[in-house]
Amino acid sequence: MMNLDMLCSPDLQARYPRSTKYDIHWIVENQIGSHCLWLMESLCDVMEWNPGMRILDLGCGKAITSIFLAKEFDVQVWAADLWIAPSENWARIRAAGLAHKVFPMRAEARELPFAEDFFDAVVGINSLQFFGTDDYYLQNHLIKLVKPGGQIGMVVPGILQEFDGLAPGHLQPYWKPDYYSWHSPDWWRLHWLHTGMVAVELCDTFPDGEGYQIFRRFEESLNDGDKMISIDEGRSITFIRSVVQKINIGNEP
Ligand SMILES: C[S@@+](CC[C@H](N)C(=O)[O-])C[C@H]1O[C@@H](n2cnc3c(N)ncnc32)[C@H](O)[C@@H]1O
Repeated sequence: MMNLDMLCSPDLQARYPRSTKYDIHWIVENQIGSHCLWLMESLCDVMEWNPGMRILDLGCGKAITSIFLAKEFDVQVWAADLWIAPSENWARIRAAGLAHKVFPMRAEARELPFAEDFFDAVVGINSLQFFGTDDYYLQNHLIKLVKPGGQIGMVVPGILQEFDGLAPGHLQPYWKPDYYSWHSPDWWRLHWLHTGMVAVELCDTFPDGEGYQIFRRFEESLNDGDKMISIDEGRSITFIRSVVQKINIGNEP
């Protein structure tokens, strides 16, 4: 059960004018982990979009962010995910009238079946924490798929600063081992830079503490939401948004 009114307040409608156009029941039924349209809209605000672009939505879950991108920006989207069956996503995509623009597929992030430089941009919402923190992943699997000059944008759950040891005491009763793949903006900035293949355009916690507020407002709308988020009170936990641009290596005039 959820308190849907909390997700449709006037301030949220003003902040997310694009997401607000979509049925809240549809969003809640098809998100995995948070209000993914808010996260995607905030990412879109800081990326470049042109009609007809080829976009990879990596770890798209139930593909509603892919549908959002195709509708909002008139782009083609490859909706790639590991856990959710492509047939299930295809039904949603057809129901949205986007069979000509959104292409569902089962994909393991380390075995992506695309040509190098194929995509104009790649996005990943609440997914790169599962595979993108590997030291070898970005350069060996992801960045090569984007054309030189193309952008990669991600939103991941994270922390404001790296912990000095284990998670702090106030989080300990709730913290799970998996959450140690949550990192800080500074950590992600260096992680991207270590590849030598991208320029980091942005790596932040959203403006005005919004990264934490997105987390909190969504969890508090759930009757059984994650108590860890409200107990944190913005001391450690946040969503992180990052946009990088692939450098044009070796092709300079
Ligand atoms: C928390 S869910 C988020 C889904 C969706 N982006 C959303 O926000 O609703 C994480 C997604 O990452 C995908 N994922 C995890 N590991 C993956 C991997 N190795 N390759 C491809 N996708 C993966 C899962 O299939 C899952 O749908």
